[in-house]
Amino acid sequence: MRIFCLPSSGVIPLHNHPGITVFSKLLFGTMHIKSYDWVVDLPPESPIIFKPTEYQALEMRLAKVKVDADFTGPCNPSILYPEDGGNMHCFTAVTACMLLDVLGPPYSDYEGRHCTYYNNYPFSNISEGISIPEEERNGYEWLQEKEQLEDLEVDGKMYSGPKIHES
Ligand SMILES: [Fe+2]
Repeated sequence: MRIFCLPSSGVIPLHNHPGITVFSKLLFGTMHIKSYDWVVDLPPESPIIFKPTEYQALEMRLAKVKVDADFTGPCNPSILYPEDGGNMHCFTAVTACMLLDVLGPPYSDYEGRHCTYYNNYPFSNISEGISIPEEERNGYEWLQEKEQLEDLEVDGKMYSGPKIHES
């Protein structure tokens, strides 16, 4: 469980929560949320994984945009499931804002729940052979794992408030 406090224009880059269910609630402020799920339901002849030919470039995988909108807190909580609900997301603070996140189970490299960060690219970059109608194509993007994450600074602080008891 954690609370993120973002200054205006602060960004939590696009990342995933493999095998994790996430309960999120924007407590205050305005935040732009963009989230994605992997595409799994296209006909088999449509390639949803693309391996660039450049030396050592990581593969790109097709994702469907689930949410791409501004939210102002306090607003209804959202739940991201492992395969659905926008399991990969990016947050951009429009104003200073605060977000409560509850993850279950937690990230664990040892148990295969590693946090991965991604770059996103327009669907039109690689659209050949993929059977998605023209008018729906804006709802899809290619995601590519980031080899390294630059410019992310997070200051962590342990909760030191009153004890929370199960009722
Ligand atoms: Fe997240």
